[in-house]
Amino acid sequence: MKTFITNSPEETEAVALKLSDVLCGGEVIAFRGDLGAGKTCFTRGLAKGLGYNGNVTSPTFAIVNEYLGGKFNIYHYDMYRIEGWEDLYSTGFFDYKDLGGIIVAEWSENIEGALDNDTIYVLIDKLGDNQRKITISGVDLP
Ligand SMILES: Nc1ncnc2c1ncn2[C@@H]1O[C@H](COP(=O)(O)OP(=O)(O)OP(=O)(O)O)[C@@H](O)[C@H]1O
Ligand SMILES: [Mg+2]
Repeated sequence: MKTFITNSPEETEAVALKLSDVLCGGEVIAFRGDLGAGKTCFTRGLAKGLGYNGNVTSPTFAIVNEYLGGKFNIYHYDMYRIEGWEDLYSTGFFDYKDLGGIIVAEWSENIEGALDNDTIYVLIDKLGDNQRKITISGVDLP
C-alpha cells in the first residue's frame, strides 16, 4: 500500500502515471472516493501514461468509455447507477475482463462482490479544495 498527497489535478495525474508504468494488462482498477474526489482526473493521467491521446471524460451516461490504441486498451466505467449482477453483465464488464485491457471503475463500491482478490484499489480522500490523499493498494509501486 502506498499513499500520496496531491495539491492539484496535475499532481493527481502524475500519481496515476506512476501506476500506469507498472501495469501489465488485464488489471482491474477500482476507485473508492466521493463525488468530485478526482477519479476521472486520475483516469486521465492513467490513460496519458499508457499513451492514449484522446479525451478522457466521465462515462456517466454511457456507463463505459473505451480508450483504444495506447499500450493497453482502457475500459473506463462509471458504476454509479449499476445495481446488481444483471446490470453489470449487461455492461460487458466480464467480457472486457477477458480481453487483456485495463478496466477502471469509478463507484466500485457498487460492484464489490464482482471484484477479484487481485483488484488494484485507488482510494481518494478529499482533504481540502485542492488537496487529495490517494491510497493505492494491491500493486507494488516504486
Ligand atoms: N489534487 C486534486 N486532484 C484531483 N482533482 C482535483 C484536485 N484539486 C482539485 N481538483 C478538482 O476536483 C475535481 C475532480 O473531478 P473528477 O471529475 O475527477 O472527480 P470524480 O471523482 O471523477 O467525480 P464523480 O464522482 O462526479 O465522477 C476537478 O474539478 C478537479 O479540478
Ligand atoms: Mg468521475
